Amino acid sequence: MTKPTVTLTDNLSGKSVELDVLSPTVGVKTIDIRKLQKELGYFTYDPGYLATASCSSSITYLDGDEGVLMYRGYPIEQLAERSSFLEVCYLLYYGELPSAERLQWYENVITHHTMLHEQVQYFYRGFRRDAHPMATMVGVVGALSAFYHDDLDIHDPAQRERSAHRLVAKMPTIASWSYRYSMGLPFNYPRNRLTYPEDFLHLMFAVPTEEYEIDPLMAKALDVILILHADHEQNASTSTVRLAGSSEANPFAAVAAGIASLWGPAHGGANEAVINMLREIERSDQPLEHWVKRAKDKDDRFRLMGFGHRVYKNYDPRAKIIRELANQILDRLPPGNPNQKLFDIARDLEQIALSDDYFKERGLYPNVDFYSGVIFLSMGIPVSMFTVMFALARTVGWISQWNEMMSDEHSRIGRPRQLYTGAAQRNYVPLGQR
Ligand code: ACO
Repeated sequence: MTKPTVTLTDNLSGKSVELDVLSPTVGVKTIDIRKLQKELGYFTYDPGYLATASCSSSITYLDGDEGVLMYRGYPIEQLAERSSFLEVCYLLYYGELPSAERLQWYENVITHHTMLHEQVQYFYRGFRRDAHPMATMVGVVGALSAFYHDDLDIHDPAQRERSAHRLVAKMPTIASWSYRYSMGLPFNYPRNRLTYPEDFLHLMFAVPTEEYEIDPLMAKALDVILILHADHEQNASTSTVRLAGSSEANPFAAVAAGIASLWGPAHGGANEAVINMLREIERSDQPLEHWVKRAKDKDDRFRLMGFGHRVYKNYDPRAKIIRELANQILDRLPPGNPNQKLFDIARDLEQIALSDDYFKERGLYPNVDFYSGVIFLSMGIPVSMFTVMFALARTVGWISQWNEMMSDEHSRIGRPRQLYTGAAQRNYVPLGQR
């Protein structure tokens, strides 16, 4: 069988280069351009990496046209229905579903790494009370680098594994403390008898004066939301973690960089933006069509938040699961609760947008953030914590991708090139002559 290649010819010099075509297990074939620069003397130009595979990876696969998402080959729908978040964490990091014995081992390891060094709480106390919890997260997660000096040899797989355990285990404590601090509430310590999502709810909401009863439906919903957000291949924050880690920075610093990248409204901040938008719509006396019209107007900066995705040009499979989850939760809440109204607006908005040619032609569908905020609000999680929830779930994806990169003997420091458009060389002009 002939090896698949593409030949690229430079029409100026007449020189050609034959480039190998790499075949993925599933998905789009990829041209290996590594020898292009050496043989033809060109860089490639692809702002936003729309057509560039920045790495090879065996962790997550998604097909945006078909609305498919798989972790290690397992469809997200099956994992959301039948698995648990910690089982998915194991799957993402180690590559296979655990046996019952291994799962028990893993749950035990994660449970016994949930406490933070007592000094960590002084970092929180250094922030203003009204600091955004994501600001606190970036600082505190980066600061963990200062606590594990003896375990930061990134070339040792065992030390990398310990860092991965620590990050997954401690993130609920770190995230909840960023909330507790902003509310002036005492920090809670993790409880080993609770499951991962139960412990997070307890860390967030228990007060010293009362018994905290965990709502099993909320714990289950949280577990599913964590599964849905656990990884999403080479998105902005994951690519940031890989790029930061490629310089051999330690994993805590690399994950802190990922958290910073996630913060933006075009990425993890979108769920916060969705609720702000729904509330604005609720407050206004304008019909939904007015907002859809604004979203289509190029001279207006307003966009339908929670709609559209760089990769999904079909219904985001995660959004389908989350919409169903929101239905279940809101059905159980007393009638007339304010979140029900927001959910109704979201559903109506979706209907109008999905039957509009502008959205249809551009393949703009609800993404994972469109309905997740309504669920978080129903759990009592405030808007300012939404992106933190995303960071909590995505930590395992980041650290698994980082570990994959570090285990790859061919991995090198990430160093993109550029198309320089600045001034060509010119001579310095003394101040008095300018
Ligand atoms: N509302 C209205 N129009 C939109 C929207 C939207 N939400 N999203 C995209 N469009 C339009 C664009 O104006 C553009 O129109 P044009 O072709 O006439 O110029 C076209 O659809 C393509 O949009 P791009 O911005 O080029 O698509 P890109 O892949 O760069 O952006 C993004 C994807 C950032 C997610 C965008 O759809 C968006 O801003 N959505 C709202 C924010 C959001 O929900 N972000 C969450 C992403 S999911 C996540 O991070 C978990």
